[in-house]
Parts: sequence; C-alpha cells; structure tokens
Amino acid sequence: MSCSVGKLLYEPALPAQVLDRPRPYAGSFQNANRSPLLTFGALQDKLASVTFGEAIMPITTCVFDAYGTLFDVSAAAREAASEPAFPALEGNWQALAMHWRDRQLQYTWLRAVTGDHCDFWQVTQDGLDWALEACGLAGDAALRERLLQLYFELSAYPEVPTMLSALKSKGLTTAILSNGSPAMLEGAVGSAGLTDLLDANLSVESVGVFKPSAKVYNLVETELNVSKSEVLFVSSNGWDAGCAAAYGFRTAWVNRLGLPVDRLPGTPHHELTDLSTLPKLIAANA
Ligand code: LAC
Repeated sequence: MSCSVGKLLYEPALPAQVLDRPRPYAGSFQNANRSPLLTFGALQDKLASVTFGEAIMPITTCVFDAYGTLFDVSAAAREAASEPAFPALEGNWQALAMHWRDRQLQYTWLRAVTGDHCDFWQVTQDGLDWALEACGLAGDAALRERLLQLYFELSAYPEVPTMLSALKSKGLTTAILSNGSPAMLEGAVGSAGLTDLLDANLSVESVGVFKPSAKVYNLVETELNVSKSEVLFVSSNGWDAGCAAAYGFRTAWVNRLGLPVDRLPGTPHHELTDLSTLPKLIAANA
C-alpha cells in the first residue's frame, strides 16, 4: 500500500496519537510557512502503526556510522597540535580539521556520483592534502604522515565503550556501517578497544560506492540478516541519518554541534546530543 507522505507532512490537523511520541522537532520545528512540521520519520512510524494497524518492530540491531559518530575525527589534528614537533598547528588545527573533513566527505559524494570509486583511505589523503594546502602547510611531509597515522588510530568518544557495553548486555546486535575501508575500521576499532563490543564492521568496499547510496544501507540487511524495521541507524552526520531514514531505517542523529536539520527527503527520527542516552532511547522503543 502506498500513500502520499509528503502531503501529510504539512497537514495541520493530525490525529492526536500521531503526535504522542516525543520527537526532537515535532511541533517545534517550523517550515517556511510556519506550519507545524512533523518529521518524515515520525510519520513513517506512525503511518505504519496507526494508519495501517501494524505493530512497530522492536529494535534488535543498532548500526553505527564510524567517523564522527564513534570516532572523533578532530582528534588527529588536535593531538598533533599538542605535540612539540608541530608548532605550525597552533591556532590552526581547528581550521585544518574542518577543511579535511569537509573535503573528505565532498570527495566521497562526488566519486559516488561520477562512479569513480576509490577507497576511503585515498579520499582521506586527498582531503588532507587539500586542507594542508588551504592552511599554508603543504609540503610538510612529517606533519602529513603524523596526521594520517593519528587518523588511522582515532580515539573513540568517551561515552562509546560504556554505551556499547550497555547495548550488548541487553542482547542487541551492534555493528558499524561505514565509508571506511576494512583496514581503517580494523585500525580504529582495535585501537579504541571496541573489538569485543561490535558484532560486525561493514565497509562500503563490499559494494564499491560511498554513502548515501542505498547499496550501502542495504548491506545491513544482507550481511546481518535482519529486516530494516528492526534496525536503529545512528550517525552524527545529519545527511547520513536523513538518508538512512529515507531508506527505511529508524534513525538517531547525534547532533553534537547543535546544527540545523539537513533539508533532505528523509529526516532523522531522534536527535541526541551524544551517545550516552542511546541505551535509554532503545529501551523506550523495545
Ligand atoms: C562514515 C563516514 C560518513 O564513517 O563518517 O561512513
């Protein structure tokens, strides 16, 4: 059965039960015409459970984006800046980290559109080279090498081990779904001590295209043998959480920086400020 979800997004008189679950933007996030805007994800849930009378599946599987979500992508530049060997980074590392991340992601999107795929380690280096030049640091081979070494072994955010342990103790399946190459994911997961807390590290390399291609999100169902309705997909990238919601996962956006919602066809179902409250959120949806 199909229906026009887009039309309903701006319906002023939604039934009360449609608004019953607290949502980050429901009733407060406004569209340009100042009509109450209900999230696409909220409506997906509610249309499934209310309009069509189907039960919402309990969440059995929690799938995480890696870079920026579990691992702090700014940590490499920040740590290098604290080392005596790299005084050039003083007062400059934030700009470098921002340019590096921006270019890295832009190159993944452009390569996905053009079909000119290479692995994430290559775009990570390409993004870094652009960022170093933009910050007047091109040609500093020692700095480049140190930054890449730190990126390969990024720190996890402090709440990550406790959060993953809590999910595992509740019997959930936990996995990464990332642009990262298998070697990068193994490096980051191992150095952060998360190996035993994750059941799978799924890399886009098995489908040869970057997020947000549906081929990538589809890996969760094929590799973990679950249906998308029992998956909570968690990402700090608004575009990743939004596209995963449009794909059909329930989604949580870890909005650490308090950014606006991305204007994309899908909208995250939940918004968190960090990962510490995720076990509670899942318990409430079990
Ligand atoms: C990843 C990037 C998008 O881990 O952060 O897939």
